[in-house]
Amino acid sequence: MTRILVTGGAGYIGSHTCVELLNAGYDVVVLDNLSNSSVEALQRVEALTAKKLTFIEGDIRDAACLDQVFASHLIDAVIHFAGLKAVGESQQIPLAYFENNVTGSLSLVQAMQRAGVYRLVFSSSATVYGEMNPSPYQETMPTGMPSNNYGYTKLVVEQMLEKAALADEKWSIALLRYFNPVGAHQSGQIGEDPQGIPNNLMPYLTQVAVGRRPLLSIFGNDYPTQDGTCERDFIHVVDLAKAHVLAIQNRLNNVGCRAWNIGTGNAISVQQIKDTFEQVNGVEIPFEYAPRRAGDLASFYADPSRAQQELGWHAELTLEDMLRDSWNWQKQNPKGYQS
Ligand code: NAD
Ligand code: WQD
Repeated sequence: MTRILVTGGAGYIGSHTCVELLNAGYDVVVLDNLSNSSVEALQRVEALTAKKLTFIEGDIRDAACLDQVFASHLIDAVIHFAGLKAVGESQQIPLAYFENNVTGSLSLVQAMQRAGVYRLVFSSSATVYGEMNPSPYQETMPTGMPSNNYGYTKLVVEQMLEKAALADEKWSIALLRYFNPVGAHQSGQIGEDPQGIPNNLMPYLTQVAVGRRPLLSIFGNDYPTQDGTCERDFIHVVDLAKAHVLAIQNRLNNVGCRAWNIGTGNAISVQQIKDTFEQVNGVEIPFEYAPRRAGDLASFYADPSRAQQELGWHAELTLEDMLRDSWNWQKQNPKGYQS
């Protein structure tokens, strides 16, 4: 049976990907230091799939730990989610971001090389396109200069992986450039569980809906967009998780380093998110218009046609599905995995 090491597998996107991998018949080994997640998520993954996975609590920066993992489990390929992801925090503590995301990724690929494992799917981000490219973003566009340190770490790791693959044709690497992941598993059993005050729109909105926060601030309503609020390409986390299974299948049969956009191709505004959430779920969201947030782009979205052509992937779930499933998760778990 094909065995996949999933770093950061207890996290938001990782846990949903574990479900899809187990359902597709893969063996799953998760390595996570639980710095931003709970082992409860993995217990729920096992309950949802009625399958077992192997969990190792450990850090991707720990070479001895990685060597031990590769020595004791015959790993065929790696999906690498582990890292830090808060944009604002990355401006305050840049070195922690470089250490976790860049040094951590380097440590992982070095351990893979030592173990003779050359197939990797990396969690990248649309942020690598920077400010200079017009939407829809296409993989053939040159990458730009991300406006924050978090985004910069993703760009550095992408470039490191590209260079490694150029130098050694044994590597087979997928760079998956996610747009804005939202939603949760349809069961409401696993979902996004941010610590502290959420930075991202959807967890903030659902925490307002459940009464944990008084109102949603919409950052800016004077952008040059259809309704003046920012537009993003929101993608259901289950569609995103399925893209990883297809990327693994692709990487088991190809070499080189290749990037794919994982988005729907639709630009949805912040206002539309709030209004549609209210309609779909029958919940009112108190809100205010607030000043623009520093660093936000007015609008960006994917051209996902390469993923369709080469991976056979396209987003299947609708905006309504995203909003219903986000609410279903939050409603059932008002305090996340602690409730
Ligand atoms: P998450 O924080 O829920 O998951 C990351 C997981 O990695 C957590 O379980 C955390 O405990 C673990 N981790 C962190 N540092 C580690 C380390 N040094 N060693 C071992 N484990 C470690 O985040 P997520 O939203 O699931 O994101 C997963 C990946 O996708 C990240 O690399 C993120 O940068 C990337 N990404 C996320 C988004 C998004 O909006 N959520 C968008 C684009 C890319
Ligand atoms: C979306 C829109 C906000 C909160 C970030 C990272 C990106 C990727 C995904 C990866 C913006 C507005 C938000 C709120 C609001 N991360 N907003 N009120 O900034 O597009 O992307 O997450 O790991 O790299 O930059 O996502 O959800 O923060 O914001 O009005 O309380 O919602 O201004 O227009 P963003 P987001």
